[in-house]
Amino acid sequence: MGLTGVNVSDRLRLVARIVRLRPRAPRDRVTAWSQFWTGVAGGRLTEPVLWEGRVDAEAVEHERRVAPWFTPGPVVLDVGCGTGWLTAALARSRGVAVGVDVAPDAVALARRSHPGAARFEVADLTDLPTAARLHGDLGDCHVVVRGVLHVLPADQRRALARAVRVLLGDRGRLYLVETNVGGGNLDYLAAAGADAAGIPGPLAQAIQTLPRPGHFGPQERAALFPATHWDLLADGAGRLGLASGPDVAAYWAVLQPHR
Ligand SMILES: C[S@@+](CC[C@H](N)C(=O)[O-])C[C@H]1O[C@@H](n2cnc3c(N)ncnc32)[C@H](O)[C@@H]1O
Repeated sequence: MGLTGVNVSDRLRLVARIVRLRPRAPRDRVTAWSQFWTGVAGGRLTEPVLWEGRVDAEAVEHERRVAPWFTPGPVVLDVGCGTGWLTAALARSRGVAVGVDVAPDAVALARRSHPGAARFEVADLTDLPTAARLHGDLGDCHVVVRGVLHVLPADQRRALARAVRVLLGDRGRLYLVETNVGGGNLDYLAAAGADAAGIPGPLAQAIQTLPRPGHFGPQERAALFPATHWDLLADGAGRLGLASGPDVAAYWAVLQPHR
């Protein structure tokens, strides 16, 4: 649900509530993510993680979507793995998976939450030499990206796409699934459960500490992975679970580079 049809005074009340939260994410995104995960790991941020609304059910959906496309051989690499719930689920179903995240405390949390389930490593996947090193170590990978592209600005999305291309090598495929709420920032917040009467705790925590998210749908996918270089194997609309209440609209796709 968006704010379309909601009256102007309710919109203004919601804006006032957001201002009162005093959003204070550091400008540098890597710093923002690192501080967020340090806060979660250390217990300073006490609300549930916003995008971990119904992880068990979602893991089944993601596994079902990749099953026809993730051929045996390449290692499954979960890019921007957060607490590693999806990496661990993929490791259970596919035998082995590796999770990487730019935030050291996300990786520490993932290791703590899923001991022995998968390998977790700190890595900035907008950095091409890092991707080349990982590819040298793991070989061709099937890459999973959930909820990362929509939080990156355009230049970092392009850098991540270049890094993914290196990781796929000759045999890997990419599965991406991203928030895709239409409209502007207020519409996203409304879809995530905010209204004039209040903002759910997990959402308020994210607003206060993290960079503002965007959206990622078919148009963004076509711009980032153009048909001149990429084959679209499958895609569709879906929902992502949020801890703040309702699921939000999402877009997923499976791609491979021209070979
Ligand atoms: C919205 S969270 C999604 C986490 C996880 N994929 C999930 O679905 O639960 C975005 C994640 O991307 C990570 N991230 C942001 N920029 C990154 C980068 N350049 N390289 C690797 N991870 C990054 C953040 O630290 C964060 O854990």
